[in-house]
Amino acid sequence: MENWQTQKKYIKTFNNEECALYTHNLSVFYGGTVQKLFDVSLGFKKNTITALIGASGSGKSTFLRSLNRLNDRVARVDGNIMFHELDINQKKINVYELRKAIGMVFQKPNPFPKSIKENITYALKANGEQDKAKLNQLVEESLRAAALWDEVKDKLDQSALALSGGQQQRLCIARAIALKPEVLLLDEPASALDPVSTAKLEDTLKQLRSKYTMIMVTHNMQQASRISDYTAFFHLGHALEYDTTTNVFTNPQGKITEKYIQGSFG
Ligand SMILES: Nc1ncnc2c1ncn2[C@@H]1O[C@H](COP(=O)(O)OP(=O)(O)O)[C@@H](O)[C@H]1O
Ligand SMILES: [Mg+2]
Repeated sequence: MENWQTQKKYIKTFNNEECALYTHNLSVFYGGTVQKLFDVSLGFKKNTITALIGASGSGKSTFLRSLNRLNDRVARVDGNIMFHELDINQKKINVYELRKAIGMVFQKPNPFPKSIKENITYALKANGEQDKAKLNQLVEESLRAAALWDEVKDKLDQSALALSGGQQQRLCIARAIALKPEVLLLDEPASALDPVSTAKLEDTLKQLRSKYTMIMVTHNMQQASRISDYTAFFHLGHALEYDTTTNVFTNPQGKITEKYIQGSFG
């Protein structure tokens, strides 16, 4: 494969070994023909949070969803997605296995209409785990990691749908974590939450940073600046700038980036 690291002027690059995941010339064509993502080459450094920012329709979700093959049915995705030296954008990849390693948390909390506990054990059981003690341990571990344990430990058998939106979102994170992923994809995970729940969710994500690589779409610039280490700016389907969050926010290199950042903060 050619060197993916020489793409665009303002795109920060890392050595491949430093990255949990990287893309090379990722392009997405909806309906097989309408191109909405153009040759995006980005590397995501291990154990960091990267924010994907940009105007509505700039391709952030399109990019994010491609990373765990959620666009398979609606789009043609060209290019490479490298994960452990394997191109996971190949047809032969088992996407169910892949989604355990690269988990996804959506904009709207979507717990299963089951108990809190079952939300976590469902996939584990489907994967063959039957040991009750082990399952209970994983439920506690995952809920603790998602900073939800204290709030739900006395009502694990109650419906997940009775939880608040913020709690449901942390449950979705716990559910993903239970599968021991390496990468967590988050698509505007706080956009349906009130400020207090948002702050809690941000705290949770910051705590998880030591163990997971997180890639998060957000339209909230303050949020990006609060919790992300790196920021990628998307514009009309192109990644135009990628650097530390501090650099992108305080010293953007591109004119379009600068305008967007100023407009969004101002
Ligand atoms: N399933 C789809 N089919 C056709 N076009 C889509 C689909 N999903 C997104 N698009 C289009 O792709 C472009 C990028 O959308 P999206 O990735 O959702 O942007 P963002 O997440 O940055 O708001 C938009 O023009 C959008 O209308
Ligand atoms: Mg989106």
